[in-house]
Amino acid sequence: MLDKFERYPLTFGPTPIQHLPRLSAALGGTVDIFAKRDDCNSGLAFGGNKIRKLEYIVPDAIAAGADTLVTIGGVQSNHTRQVAAVAAKIGMKCRLVQESWVPFPDAVYDRVGNILMSRVMGAEIELVEEGFDIGIRESWERALEDVKAKGGKPYPIPAGASVHKFGGLGYVGFAEEVRTQEAELGFTFDYIVVCTVTGSTHGGMVVGFAKDSRSRNVIGIDASATPAQTKAQVLDIARNTAEFVGLGRAITEEDIVLKEDYAYPCYGVPSEETNEAIRLAARTEGMMTDPVYEGKSMQGLIDLTRKGFFPAGSKVLYAHLGGVPAINGYSYIYRNG
Ligand SMILES: Cc1ncc(COP(=O)(O)O)c(C=O)c1O
Repeated sequence: MLDKFERYPLTFGPTPIQHLPRLSAALGGTVDIFAKRDDCNSGLAFGGNKIRKLEYIVPDAIAAGADTLVTIGGVQSNHTRQVAAVAAKIGMKCRLVQESWVPFPDAVYDRVGNILMSRVMGAEIELVEEGFDIGIRESWERALEDVKAKGGKPYPIPAGASVHKFGGLGYVGFAEEVRTQEAELGFTFDYIVVCTVTGSTHGGMVVGFAKDSRSRNVIGIDASATPAQTKAQVLDIARNTAEFVGLGRAITEEDIVLKEDYAYPCYGVPSEETNEAIRLAARTEGMMTDPVYEGKSMQGLIDLTRKGFFPAGSKVLYAHLGGVPAINGYSYIYRNG
C-alpha cells in the first residue's frame, strides 16, 4: 500500500517480534503474548513510534526546502525528543514547544529523560504553561511564525506527528511488516494492543490491518484521558489515510476500538495499577515500559487478559512503542522499585 510514497530510512529495519512466555504464564497461560519492539527500532536517541512516522514526513520537509523542524509536546514528550534526533540526523535545526501537559511534581521532571536528550541534541526549547490538549495549539503556531520572522524556513509537525498528511503512513507500514513476519512465523495474531493518544499510530494500524479485515482486532488503549477527542482524531486520520493509500473501502466508526478504562487519574500520571503493570512486565520479561504511555497499555493488556476479553488460545501482539526515557522524571514513585 505504500509503494508510491517516498520513505527516508531512519529505522534499523523491521522490528523484532518477541515471545513473552513468562508474562503469558503470569496471566494464567490462556493466551500467548508477544511484543513487537518498536521501542528498539532506531539508533536515533532510543527511537520509538515517531521515528516510524517521520520516515514518511522527512522527504516532504526536505522537498519543502525547510531548515527547521518545529513541533510540540509535553515536558517529557517522546515525540519532541525523536524530532530533535531526526533534525540532528538530517542536518536541520529543531524548535520545540513543550507545554505543561502533566501535573507531576518530581523535582527534576524538566531536567531528565527526554527533555535532557533534546537539549543535548541542540534543540531550541520553549517551556509553555499550558495544559494537555492533542489539538492544534497556538503556542506551536507562534513558534512557526517566530522561526519565519527570524529568517528561517520552518516545517510544521503537529503533536505526535499525527494530524499531518503523511502521519498515518508509518503504522500502515507496521501492519504490512507484521503480515510478512506472520508468514515467517506460520501463524497470525488475533489481536494487536496499542497505546493511543494523538491517534496516528492506532489510525495507521487500523488502515493497515483493514487490508485483511483485522481493523477491529486492533485494541487501542487510551492514555489521553480525553477519549472522545482521541477517538475522533483516530477516525479522522484513519479515514484520510485510507483514501490516501487507496485502501479501497471507507473506514467507519466501527473500525475503531478504544478502551477508555486505563488512562486515570489523568494523562501522564500513573495509577497504582499502571505501576503494578510496569513492574510485572519488568519482573517477568525484563521489558521496561513507561508511566505515561506503554505502562497504561500494558495495564490494559493485563486487565483484559485477566478478564477473559481475549478468548483462550488467542495470540496477542503488544505494540511496544517506546517511551521509557520518561520514567526518569518519575524517580520518586519507583525509589523502591
Ligand atoms: C511511547 C508512546 N506510546 C504511545 C504513544 C501514542 O501514540 P499516538 O500519539 O500516535 O497515539 C506515544 C505518543 O504520543 C508515545 O510516545
